[in-house]
Amino acid sequence: MFVLLDFMLLLFLASVFVSSACARPSSYAVWAADSAIARGQGNGLDDNGNPLVSYEHGELQWALRLLYEQTGNKTYYDYIKTGVDNVVASDGSVGGGYSATQFQLDPLRVGPTFLYLYNQTNQTKYRKAADEFRNQFPIHSRTAQGQFWHKKIYPNQGWLDGIYMGDIFYAAYTQMFQPTNNTAWDDITLQFTLMFNNTIQNSATPNHTFTGLLYHGYDYSHSTIWADPDRGHSPEIWIRALGWYSMALVDALAIIPTSHPGHAVLLNILRTLVPRIVAATDPTSGVWWLVMTQPGRAGNYFESSGAAMFVYSLLKAVRVGYVTDSDGKIVASAKKAYQYMVDNWVVDHGDGTMDWKNTVQVGSLNTDGSYAYYIGVPTDLNDLKGLAAFALASIEYEQS
Ligand SMILES: *[C@@H]1O[C@H](CO)[C@@H](O)[C@H](O)[C@H]1NC(C)=O
Ligand SMILES: *[C@@H]1O[C@H](CO)[C@@H](O)[C@H](O)[C@H]1NC(C)=O
Ligand SMILES: *[C@@H]1O[C@H](CO)[C@@H](O)[C@H](O)[C@H]1NC(C)=O
Ligand SMILES: *[C@@H]1O[C@H](CO)[C@@H](O)[C@H](O)[C@H]1NC(C)=O
Ligand SMILES: *[C@@H]1O[C@H](CO)[C@@H](O)[C@H](O)[C@H]1NC(C)=O
Repeated sequence: MFVLLDFMLLLFLASVFVSSACARPSSYAVWAADSAIARGQGNGLDDNGNPLVSYEHGELQWALRLLYEQTGNKTYYDYIKTGVDNVVASDGSVGGGYSATQFQLDPLRVGPTFLYLYNQTNQTKYRKAADEFRNQFPIHSRTAQGQFWHKKIYPNQGWLDGIYMGDIFYAAYTQMFQPTNNTAWDDITLQFTLMFNNTIQNSATPNHTFTGLLYHGYDYSHSTIWADPDRGHSPEIWIRALGWYSMALVDALAIIPTSHPGHAVLLNILRTLVPRIVAATDPTSGVWWLVMTQPGRAGNYFESSGAAMFVYSLLKAVRVGYVTDSDGKIVASAKKAYQYMVDNWVVDHGDGTMDWKNTVQVGSLNTDGSYAYYIGVPTDLNDLKGLAAFALASIEYEQS
């Protein structure tokens, strides 16, 4: 009898030990961040250990910075700094595959981290790195209306993605070094407005749900294969692109001075889009379809990174007061989506780390931009861009 009891006690103690050894943090934001760090994700290096300037790393760094500010845990700060030091040389030159003359907006997503580190350390090399990125703008090709091309290899194309990648940096740089440069504030506002005007779905089209949201991109020259003959926009509304644009709105609003007219312009855009994003949720799950214009069509699915970006944007928009939520519908919608996310897309590895699934692998307008192109098997695990978006959504959720 005693032997049995002892044995059971041992089993009990063993299980307590095992579960505490593998305990997960109570905060999903911390869990997501710590899991990325444990796997060495977003550290300024690629899978082979070579320096890499990547928007995904910049996105994670933005989340880690917010977590550092919230928790005071220096591990997050050190990880950000190591990640940047892997791509910025001691003389401030940016490596990791960056080349200004390719006119790419994606790499600039790491720029806000350069500015942050300059703020924190006063080290000239971070300012030089930020200057190198800033110096891309005067040479970066634009459409006749003034929109930065998404890349040199995509002439005359504006993509929603580029707003999140390039304009948060543009705004943060202006705030830090040229706060009274109204030409820059005007230019940043113009980037948002042109994307909005040129991609908004302003009428119903055959076989597509009318959402009033934004198509993925447009070709000002109307010459690429996917360009609509009327306004040059691409054929589908893609969750991730709109997710980026909505995060860019709430993040840029916190940077652009309220005294500049661009602030009100962006507020208007946000206030137009928020109810439409809420209206586009799937009524049962509360989340959103990958191709938002074709809900329920075979091959379409609920995409996890875009959902996380919407949750971040909706909750931040309400928390900061950019939109009013008098009947509580916006927050309720975001919270329902968040619950679906943690129930369905968080994977507990059982070793103290978590993972995140159902993020689309790619989504670029370098193809025909068709429905068939966007759908496809989502990544299963180990996807940083989705995990970083989930960390951001969790940071907002946990303070809502
Ligand atoms: C800080 O975060 C790291 C993981 O990223 C964790 O191991 C450590 O326990 C945290 N420190 C504190 C004081 O919470
Ligand atoms: C860093 O940011 C703080 C708070 O916004 C500000 O007071 C300080 O002047 C900044 N430092 C630098 C070097 O930009
Ligand atoms: C950075 O420089 C400013 C102005 O010279 C100074 O006020 C601030 O304390 C410095 N910050 C750090 C972290 O050294
Ligand atoms: C202000 O911003 C504009 C547009 O980016 C730029 O061309 C100009 O050089 C900036 N002016 C100053 C004084 O920094
Ligand atoms: C965008 O469209 C609005 C409404 O039609 C118009 O007032 C505004 O001037 C346009 N902005 C740009 C930059 O084209």
